[in-house]
Amino acid sequence: MVYTYEQAQEAAAVISPWLEDRTYLAIVLGSGFDACLSKIDLKHSIPYVELPHFPTTSVMGHSGILHIGTWDQQEVLVWSGRFHYYEGHSMQTVTFPIRVTKLLGINDLLLTNAAGGLLESMRPGSLMFIRDHINFQPENPLRGPHDPRWGPRFPDMNHVYDAAWITEWSHLAKQLEVPYHIGVYLGLQGPSLETPAEYAWFHQAGAHAVGMSTVPEAIVARQMGMRIGGISVISNVFNPYELADTTHEGVLEVVRTAADRTAGLLSNWFNQRQ
Ligand code: HPA
Repeated sequence: MVYTYEQAQEAAAVISPWLEDRTYLAIVLGSGFDACLSKIDLKHSIPYVELPHFPTTSVMGHSGILHIGTWDQQEVLVWSGRFHYYEGHSMQTVTFPIRVTKLLGINDLLLTNAAGGLLESMRPGSLMFIRDHINFQPENPLRGPHDPRWGPRFPDMNHVYDAAWITEWSHLAKQLEVPYHIGVYLGLQGPSLETPAEYAWFHQAGAHAVGMSTVPEAIVARQMGMRIGGISVISNVFNPYELADTTHEGVLEVVRTAADRTAGLLSNWFNQRQ
């Protein structure tokens, strides 16, 4: 399924009447990040099913609702629930909400996710501010017909993740004593988790965390010239000397606990940005 520019415009037209004439930050909330929603003074919510050309979400922990509101003086548009490639969605569907975001005139994008940590120093529940990514998913979301209204056919991929935001978050994390890392996120198809050999190899290849999302969204946002930030909650850590099973429930549990930290950090960031 390839979406046209006009289809994205149709979805944006349903949302735009709810937006104030202010500068918005768009946030894509990963699984288990729902605690962040309690911080938002909600103005309006739209289930994805009510948005033109949107499919429905299926994975547990994903509610599939777009929230519009204010978070500590920051106007936010929050995509709560994302489409994953492993669910069988095309890369175009996975990245459609990002296209719609841009057509709403929003340029700032924060992508959140749960990720498996590859560094010995990582602990479950710590954060990783993404400074770069490796696209290890089997497809690129820009493959296929090109509409120049979206941006370049061959977007540059230097400086995808905003360095100034990483600096600001790092300062705040130190102040708030939130354990954090700055690293490279490697995006995989999933849904099976990685074998020990794969985790070890990805680490050798330069990755610090692995997950099943975010990369396609960042590629599409980069093509459209958006300012991008990425925050991973490290939900499980690969330890070659003590192999532990990873379960989806365990991942969600850690993220739910750490989502409070993430929310606290973001609240401080929004207050500071004013
Ligand atoms: N691998 C891939 N995706 C993940 C992981 C992992 O270990 N943890 C959370 N999402």
